[in-house]
Amino acid sequence: MLDLAGKRIVLGLTGGIACYKAAELTRGLIKAGASVQVVMTDAATHFITPVTMQALSGQPVHTDQWDARIANNMAHIDLTRTADAILIAPCSADFMATLARGGCTDLLSTMCLARPSMLPLMVAPAMNVEMWQNPATQRNVRQLKDDGIMVLGPDAGEQACGETGMGRMLEAVQLVEEMVAAFQPKSLRGKQVMITAGPTFEPIDPVRGITNLSSGKMGYALARAAREAGADVTLVSGPTALATPAGVQRINVQTAQQMFDVVMSRVTGQDVFIAVAAVADWRVVNASEQKLKKSAEGGLPALVFAANPDILATVAALPQAPYCVGFAAESEQLLKYGKAKRAAKNIPLLIGNIGHHTFGMDENELVLFDADGQIQFPHAHKQTLARQLITAISERLAPAS
Ligand code: C5P
Repeated sequence: MLDLAGKRIVLGLTGGIACYKAAELTRGLIKAGASVQVVMTDAATHFITPVTMQALSGQPVHTDQWDARIANNMAHIDLTRTADAILIAPCSADFMATLARGGCTDLLSTMCLARPSMLPLMVAPAMNVEMWQNPATQRNVRQLKDDGIMVLGPDAGEQACGETGMGRMLEAVQLVEEMVAAFQPKSLRGKQVMITAGPTFEPIDPVRGITNLSSGKMGYALARAAREAGADVTLVSGPTALATPAGVQRINVQTAQQMFDVVMSRVTGQDVFIAVAAVADWRVVNASEQKLKKSAEGGLPALVFAANPDILATVAALPQAPYCVGFAAESEQLLKYGKAKRAAKNIPLLIGNIGHHTFGMDENELVLFDADGQIQFPHAHKQTLARQLITAISERLAPAS
């Protein structure tokens, strides 16, 4: 998806082994529609060559404050005047210190200090765990945040130096996601949003169970869109193969009952509850502790079912219920059933999937049912629809008193 179409990003590289990820990052940003202007510190050129970065970005790389190629020799000014954001990735401990004290030690730091005041500056720290935890670095991180600089990551894990802990730079895909998020309107800033997603899995025995074809894509797209809009997002997810969207708290569950329990234990204080999960209507009450064996006589197992709790209806019936949104995947007469389902669940907004072949697909077509009637959202990528839905939900939320 061209989520960064037309965006001009100045990508700054400072000295660190994570420079190798900057190559992938450049490709990712360009694939998302952005143009990338690379600026490197001298230290960065020891880790990855300007030739590589020029080839990937398709633009000459700037490394020097004194550059006779530039007519006015003021790269530190010119480079940011038409930019939409500056991203420093990797950002070394030393470069954070320089930014924190407003230093101008080379082209990149001078350019950051001389940037227009409204131009977003993001940094993706990358360093050894001890360097990250050092009080001096933590003091600089606080200073950067106070100065309105966005600090993306770092992550914890194995480090190139062989030690383990906080300090790994976020992966290229995560940084692209963060850049996309930075450009989205903050219509849910400060709101708490809980989303259920994916299928549930109801065991029959230790190796078998009943599930459905839900991929979780729509729920995950909504979680990402809600977080992009500034919300604090909890995603309660059945089994899926999807990556957790950046900045989203994900809680994994298997059965409908587990999903119900997690939702009910955390729903207090939520502003919005979006039930996207394809929850199994029934569970097997006589699930076997041991694997069921085929009988020699050809007898069949007798499964006994019980109804699962309706999570959405239960949340909607709470005295201080959040703004509840449900989904409907009907195979016929969606318009008739959609209206009825909104009423039956007693929710303000119900989203109908037009056609029931949406499971697993990247695209969808939706219709919104609310008290005023219905609105159709034409066929589009699920992420695009998710952003439209989040806008629609934010418009329907009661203004904070
Ligand atoms: O009743 P039906 O399953 O068609 O309703 C679908 C909507 O209700 C979806 O939003 C789904 O996430 C939610 N649901 C639920 N708990 C259930 C069944 C459905 O939250 N047990």
